[in-house]
Amino acid sequence: MTSSQTQYRCFPNCRCMRDDEELARGVERAYEMVFKGTVDFFVIKAASDLGLFEAMASGPQPVAALAEATGTVPARLERLLITMEQVGLARALEGAWRLTPFAEQFFTAQDQHRNMTMVPFVSYMSDLIQSYYANLADVTRGKLDFTSQVPHPPRTREDSAFYENIHRSNIHFVQKFLRDKARLEGVRHLIDVGGGIGDIAASLCDKYPDLRVTLLNLPSALDLVRENMAARGLSERVTAVAVDMYREAYPEGDAVLFARILYPMNRQFSTMLLKKAHDALPRGGRVIILDMIISDPARPNYDYLTHYLCSIGMNFSVLEFKDHAIYPELLQEVGFGDVTCDEAYDHVLYQAVKQ
Ligand SMILES: C[S@@+](CC[C@H](N)C(=O)[O-])C[C@H]1O[C@@H](n2cnc3c(N)ncnc32)[C@H](O)[C@@H]1O
Repeated sequence: MTSSQTQYRCFPNCRCMRDDEELARGVERAYEMVFKGTVDFFVIKAASDLGLFEAMASGPQPVAALAEATGTVPARLERLLITMEQVGLARALEGAWRLTPFAEQFFTAQDQHRNMTMVPFVSYMSDLIQSYYANLADVTRGKLDFTSQVPHPPRTREDSAFYENIHRSNIHFVQKFLRDKARLEGVRHLIDVGGGIGDIAASLCDKYPDLRVTLLNLPSALDLVRENMAARGLSERVTAVAVDMYREAYPEGDAVLFARILYPMNRQFSTMLLKKAHDALPRGGRVIILDMIISDPARPNYDYLTHYLCSIGMNFSVLEFKDHAIYPELLQEVGFGDVTCDEAYDHVLYQAVKQ
């Protein structure tokens, strides 16, 4: 301890931080947790509730015009805009306010930025804050369970549309990673397990002109997939079928893809699903696993943690913090070999061949 450091900041046996450098790092992290989280999310929520992102998307405008468009008090709106400027969402230039390119990308025009937008997440998180996260202590006390306004697993087309819209909203780098690294040369028939609305299948068909995909999903999602494929001229190449990925056998193909399916599942569930993939493949067939990284102690995965918190209020959940490093051993146990692993964009891609 240097002489410039305080010897006791606290009572003698307290286990708090004694080292000033460590304390300074702690301050940064603690401020992020309490102040940054609050400001970032609630400014975004207010702008979204007010329709301010849409109002500003049409180009630079003075406060008075924005106040008129959003039904707000100009002097108050100005302070909201100044806060948005501080956190990188807005800029003021010659008396007019505009969104930054960052804000435009993530918080406006979700259909235009369909595969990389936060718009659906903002409304989903806002609802969950009010109905669930704000009451997490009571949830932990056992006084409240998790209930979602949209049933999960989805049962109707509308339920599935809600969740598939969410899944497709952060898929850009998943598509890119698979296009760049998945070894699908020579593969004619891919089984896409829990394949979402088909955006991944479409992106792979685009890269591999001879590829056909059978996409497994819940019955309530099938029409959404079919409509998406029809709109892209891929109805002949992507077939959506209702197969329960946990309970039923998978159709035969020469590669099986699990994109963002296995990452939260424990070893037992992962093994069960990988065995189904093994049974569906000929010798030499490939299995491809793309997972979010959720087990890096230096980089907590907050996307996953928002879901994991929901599992506190469920009496049964498959959500876990499995370390993806178990895959090579697990794949070999199931009968796969030649295991490779790539890492990019906070995701991992494991590929293996049936022996
Ligand atoms: C987390 S999303 C992943 C979607 C897609 N693979 C992606 O990465 O965007 C899970 C997908 O599995 C589907 N799903 C959920 N339970 C299923 C089940 N029992 N059988 C088949 N599909 C299921 C969901 O409808 C959804 O499309």
